Amino acid sequence: MQQHIPVLLKETLEILSPQAGDRILDVTLGLGGHSEALLEAAGKAGSLVALDADMENIAIAKENLKKFGSRVTILHSNFSELPNCLPEDQRQFDIILADLGLSSPHIDDPTRGFTFRTDAPLDMRFDRSSGMTAAMLLASLDEEKLRKIFWEFGELPKVRPLVTEIVARRTENPIRSSSDLTDAAKVVYGYKSPQMLPQLFQALRMAVNREREALGNLLAAIPFLLAPGGRCAVIAYHSIEDTLVKTAFRSLAADEKDLLTGSISKKSEFVLLTRKPIAASEQEIQKNPRSRSARLRAIAKRTEYTDHRTASC
Ligand SMILES: C[S@@+](CC[C@H](N)C(=O)[O-])C[C@H]1O[C@@H](n2cnc3c(N)ncnc32)[C@H](O)[C@@H]1O
Repeated sequence: MQQHIPVLLKETLEILSPQAGDRILDVTLGLGGHSEALLEAAGKAGSLVALDADMENIAIAKENLKKFGSRVTILHSNFSELPNCLPEDQRQFDIILADLGLSSPHIDDPTRGFTFRTDAPLDMRFDRSSGMTAAMLLASLDEEKLRKIFWEFGELPKVRPLVTEIVARRTENPIRSSSDLTDAAKVVYGYKSPQMLPQLFQALRMAVNREREALGNLLAAIPFLLAPGGRCAVIAYHSIEDTLVKTAFRSLAADEKDLLTGSISKKSEFVLLTRKPIAASEQEIQKNPRSRSARLRAIAKRTEYTDHRTASC
């Protein structure tokens, strides 16, 4: 039985504060843990539209959310396609949630190639029905593009020798499996290579799934998808994503100021619900180590009903 423990669940529910009849959009359905809790809290009139790029996760989530019947609409889609992937009559939401990155089945299933802990073909796609696998990227990208990936997404040292090693190896034999890649890393990083593998695999996964680009598109769509009074939370798991979310939310919530006097000339339509990101408690980290790097940020769209939130943040 595939399981995924929803991260920061209590905090997500608190900050998104589901109300009876809320329309919920979960753009990273996973196995449906957050969706289920939000929908339960929104009562019998609440509804959910949820998407995921991963068909296998969708199949499990469908089972898990079966009890809600027609209140749930599940779409196989990438959130970078928002808002166009949504039904035309469902484009305004009271709650939007994005819980980014990997789910437990991605790590636990050795055939997905996300982890360096087991030897498997280097796939790493969330959506196995389209796009290039990690092995294809390693085989086809030129040295400069590979260096950019490892530098920007992995912030790895010794990127130049690493790419030289990968390119030398691929001319002999394609780099097909996680052990092919870890062998190349061992040559470059020596005894430090176990410390580098998480960043190396993260960088490749981000490139395969175009994660930075997808998050940028999602953050651009959120303001239009939030109904007046709506709340949106994003849970990020590394600093590149968290910085993008922080910058987008701060800029949305920035008031316009008079250039001469510096006084506020127009209040923003949005309000930050988190000045600092919310992290998991020690207790949660002990139960679910994956929550260690989670950072939750949230924003609300103003209405007269959300003014109490302004006062509290
Ligand atoms: C951390 S898991 C979500 C877990 C979920 N909150 C739960 O409680 O089960 C992230 C999910 O988002 C999906 N995902 C990641 N990037 C995506 C994207 N750009 N578009 C759609 N789904 C994406 C992954 O396939 C994965 O199932």
